[in-house]
Amino acid sequence: MFERFHKDFPDDFLWGASTSAYQVEGGITNDWSEWEKENANRLALESYKKFGNLKNWESIKREATDPSNYISGTSTDHYTYYREDIKLLKGLGLNSYRFSIEWSRIEPTPGNFDQKEIEHYQDVVRACREEGIEPMVTLWHFTNPIWVRDMGGWTNPKVIDHFLRYVELMVTSLPSVKYWIVVNEPELYARFTHIFAYWPPAQKNLLLYFRSVSILVRATKRAARIIHDKVPGSLVSIASHYSYIQAYNDKWYNHLFKKFAIWWWNFSFLDRVIKDLDFVGINYYFHARLDKGIEVNRNDIVSDLGWELYPKGMYYVLRDVWAKYHKPIIITEHGLADRENKRREWYVEKSLLYARKAIKLHGVEMRGYYHWSLLDNFEWDKGYWPRFGLVEVDYESKKRLPRT
Ligand code: BGC
Repeated sequence: MFERFHKDFPDDFLWGASTSAYQVEGGITNDWSEWEKENANRLALESYKKFGNLKNWESIKREATDPSNYISGTSTDHYTYYREDIKLLKGLGLNSYRFSIEWSRIEPTPGNFDQKEIEHYQDVVRACREEGIEPMVTLWHFTNPIWVRDMGGWTNPKVIDHFLRYVELMVTSLPSVKYWIVVNEPELYARFTHIFAYWPPAQKNLLLYFRSVSILVRATKRAARIIHDKVPGSLVSIASHYSYIQAYNDKWYNHLFKKFAIWWWNFSFLDRVIKDLDFVGINYYFHARLDKGIEVNRNDIVSDLGWELYPKGMYYVLRDVWAKYHKPIIITEHGLADRENKRREWYVEKSLLYARKAIKLHGVEMRGYYHWSLLDNFEWDKGYWPRFGLVEVDYESKKRLPRT
């Protein structure tokens, strides 16, 4: 599917797909695996409230109301099948793979590093290289070892030194990796854990929100310096959640809401770390037309999750991020839940057309596009029913079937 777009982008453009360890590997014990055990029943009971208004409710009802949907368990067992999955990625016309390292595998208890697990990730990189696939490695994608949770997670500044020791170990163990993502969507993580309490540790507390953002900022900056120091020539960034935000009409207060939301959701974290980054990693999924702070999108075309599919947003996102930072941009995630694969190709094609427009009209230095996701996977508090994969996975048999 991706080959036909290659001619419209530079020869060295990174065409990739992304995953994260907890969502695909299976067999992980960490803060999420503990939390989901206690929350699976509740999430299943609340599913009608959350998803009952979706047009496709009847087709997702069985899974969404089943508590086992919310337990990550063996997942796709990517931990075993990574070689096969990397081959599938290549077969899709892609040349890069973004995956994450699971900190709890590497350091199950403080200061005890598991050599076998380090070798596992070394072999994932080796498998990429053997297929001619450029690895992009994320060091933290939402999950923490249990002992980090017990320290208070990202609300405890002591976590920074632990994180940096883990970072240093991983970058020196994977010296051939050039592209590093220190953290995935840190501000959204802090918002979901400490403002909305959707995700573990699910503590609503504004003070903890600000504290964890500030700790994640410090950890990111120092980690970036370590990576630059240990891996000469490395290119470091974060994967930043970014919504294309518009005001619903010309009312002054809607402009105010828009400005505030753009700053808070899109730039507040990036602004604090940008100096230490070599490129800007952007995860683009959402368009928000705000009326008094409430989203009033037209929702003409939506994904299985009811998220509006708004390809034109890609143009504005690239234009605006470029105008603000003038650093190369990589779309580190972009995709949709689309079980029947009705919209995926259309959405990617249109979005890439808009990306080209931004490059042409504004000279945006766009270096890559990564689709979320390579495989169907565990969509956090929504569980397994949303299907984001370019490759469909049968969770029972672990069989893979490319959708494109
Ligand atoms: C996250 C992924 C997630 C995807 C789809 C991104 O915010 O990085 O972990 O699965 O969005 O919701």
